[in-house]
Amino acid sequence: MLRTGFVGWRGMVGSVLLQRMLEEDGFKHIEPIFFTTSQAGKPGPDVGVEVPPLKDAFDIQALAELDVIVTCQGGDYTGEVYSRLRESGWKGYWIDAASTLRMADDTVIVLDPVNRKVIDQRLDEGFKTFAGGNCTVSLMLMGLGGLYEAGLIEWMTSMSYQAASGAGAQNMRELLNQMSMVGNAARAELDDPASAILDIDRKVIETMRGSDFPIDQFGAPLGGSLLPWIDKKLDNGQSKEEWKGGVESNKILGMAPNTVPVDGLCVRVGSMRSHAQAFTIKLTRDVPIDEIEDRIARHNDWVSVVPNDKDATLARLTPAAVTGTLDVPVGRLRKMAMGGEYLSAFTVGDQLLWGAAEPLRRMLALLVE
Ligand code: HSE
Repeated sequence: MLRTGFVGWRGMVGSVLLQRMLEEDGFKHIEPIFFTTSQAGKPGPDVGVEVPPLKDAFDIQALAELDVIVTCQGGDYTGEVYSRLRESGWKGYWIDAASTLRMADDTVIVLDPVNRKVIDQRLDEGFKTFAGGNCTVSLMLMGLGGLYEAGLIEWMTSMSYQAASGAGAQNMRELLNQMSMVGNAARAELDDPASAILDIDRKVIETMRGSDFPIDQFGAPLGGSLLPWIDKKLDNGQSKEEWKGGVESNKILGMAPNTVPVDGLCVRVGSMRSHAQAFTIKLTRDVPIDEIEDRIARHNDWVSVVPNDKDATLARLTPAAVTGTLDVPVGRLRKMAMGGEYLSAFTVGDQLLWGAAEPLRRMLALLVE
C-alpha cells in the first residue's frame, strides 16, 4: 500500500478532502500518515484505519519516507519544502492544492474527467508532480469539456462571480459579519412596513462606509457590494486570477499556450462557497443549440444542462442550489445577437469540491488503482 502523507488536512480544503476520502473509503487502500506544522506527536485524526501520531511537516527525512504527499497546506509550505525534498533525492508523488508549482514544466495540472489522457501520458513519461487547477478554471472545464473535446471553442471570455471561500475561511466569516451588520443597520425600519426604503438604504450605505465595518480580510465591503479584483495585478493589466483562466486551461488540456484564448474579468461576490461564471464563447462553427447541449451534457457524470428558462435557472443554476454537491450545471445556453457562432453560457460549481479537493482525491485514487 502506498505510504501517503497528508499535510494541511485541518484547513478548509484539507477538511473537504478528508470528508470526500471518507465518503469514498479512500483511506482503506493506502497507509495514511498525517503531518502537522505545530502539533507533532499528538494523535492523528480518526479516519477509520489506524494512523501513527502526527509527524512534523517540515521533517524532510520523515517526508522522504513517503510514496505520496498530498498537501493542502498552501503555497508558502510548498515553496519551503518541495525543492528541498526533491533535492534530497525523493522520487515520490507530490499532489498539491496550491498554485506554486502549477505552471512548472514538470507539473501536471489534474482534472481527470477532462484530462485523463494527459495525466496517463505524463505518468507513463515519469512525471511525479501534480497540482489541482485554479477553481474557476477547473469548474469551467468540467462544465464546457464537451465543447473543448469537439474542438468547438475558438476563444472565450469568462466573467466570474467568485465566492468568499476562494479567498479563505476568514473571508467567509468576514462576509457573514458584514452581512449581519448590513441587516442590522436598519432593523427598526425593516420591521416597520411603513418605513421609507430610501431611509433604509441611507442607513445601510452609512454602515458599509463606517470605520467599524469589518474589512480586514477583503479590504473593502463585500456584503451588499462586490469586488471586481481578485489577486495581484500583472504588467498587462490583468489580475493574476484572470491570467490563470487562459494559461491553466490550455495546459490542463495538453495544448500549447493560448491555443484557445480565455480571458475575462474576475469578480468577488457575496456567495459563500460556489463560484459562478458567465461565458461568451466564439464557436469555431455555427452548430445548432441542441447539439451544443448534447455535447455539454454527455461529457462527464457531473455536468448537466439547465433549460434556458427562468424557473429552471433559479431552481438549479445558483450557488444556493449547488453548494455541497459535485454537480456542475450549465445553463443560459443561447446564441447571442452577434451571430450563430456566438454562444452564451453560465455555470456554477462548488469551489471547494471540483474547484479544489476533488481533483486531488481522484489523482491519489488513480495512483492507487
Ligand atoms: N483563487 C480562487 C479565488 C480560489 O480567489 O476564488 C482558488 O482557486
